[in-house]
Amino acid sequence: MEKRLIIAIDGYSSCGKSTFARMIARELNYIFIDSGAMYRAVTLYCIRRKFISGQGLNTRGILEELKDINIDFIYNPDINTHETFMNSENVEAEIRNMEVTSYVSRISQIPEVRARMVELQRQIGAFKGIVMDGRDIGTVVFPDADLKIFMTAAADIRARRRYDELKAKGINIDFEEIKRGIIARDIADENRDISPLRRADDAIVLDNSRMTVDAQMQWVREIIEKKINAGRN
Ligand code: DC
Repeated sequence: MEKRLIIAIDGYSSCGKSTFARMIARELNYIFIDSGAMYRAVTLYCIRRKFISGQGLNTRGILEELKDINIDFIYNPDINTHETFMNSENVEAEIRNMEVTSYVSRISQIPEVRARMVELQRQIGAFKGIVMDGRDIGTVVFPDADLKIFMTAAADIRARRRYDELKAKGINIDFEEIKRGIIARDIADENRDISPLRRADDAIVLDNSRMTVDAQMQWVREIIEKKINAGRN
């Protein structure tokens, strides 16, 4: 049987990691896991329970209920991909809203939240044949991943893509505000105490500032083929 890989895709926010990971998973018929969606789902739970608001954070409340937050990724054949469920509710759209986005960095800094998410991520990965994107997948979650890619792109370009994406959805937001948000998240991701964003020593860097999605796919196909063939005997 063909070797099934664990593929870790880390990098800065709004680099197109999820789009890329999702496409790879589709081609290989692998499971796609958006680990950021897991932190977003926990954040949504905390907002609803009023554990987070403004500058306030009820860490005790969060820790007490952490075990009650179940996260699943369920395949939707209509859109040919997995969607995020929290306690059996499809939260795929809601976890992308501005409120969740603005609080998620703070929730993802809580050590116990990270420990729980990493545990869940490893359970899912135990089956192999998985593409997971995030910030610490190649460094912490799967240090032995078969393929590690570290994605980056210029902040201006990332902001432009995000701006176009939101505009297409009818959401009007100032370009400069988006850019500031992206830069702030880069700083938060790189400077948090636990599992900060950094490139694993054995990760391949992909700067997609000037690459189309097709070009990225072509690039990764060759690499994956080599990895799979190397596993054949
Ligand atoms: O990729 P994203 O923007 O959906 O991620 C949301 C947040 O979760 C982001 O602030 C960083 C955090 N995150 C993390 O700390 N570790 C991961 N493996 C994935 C995301």
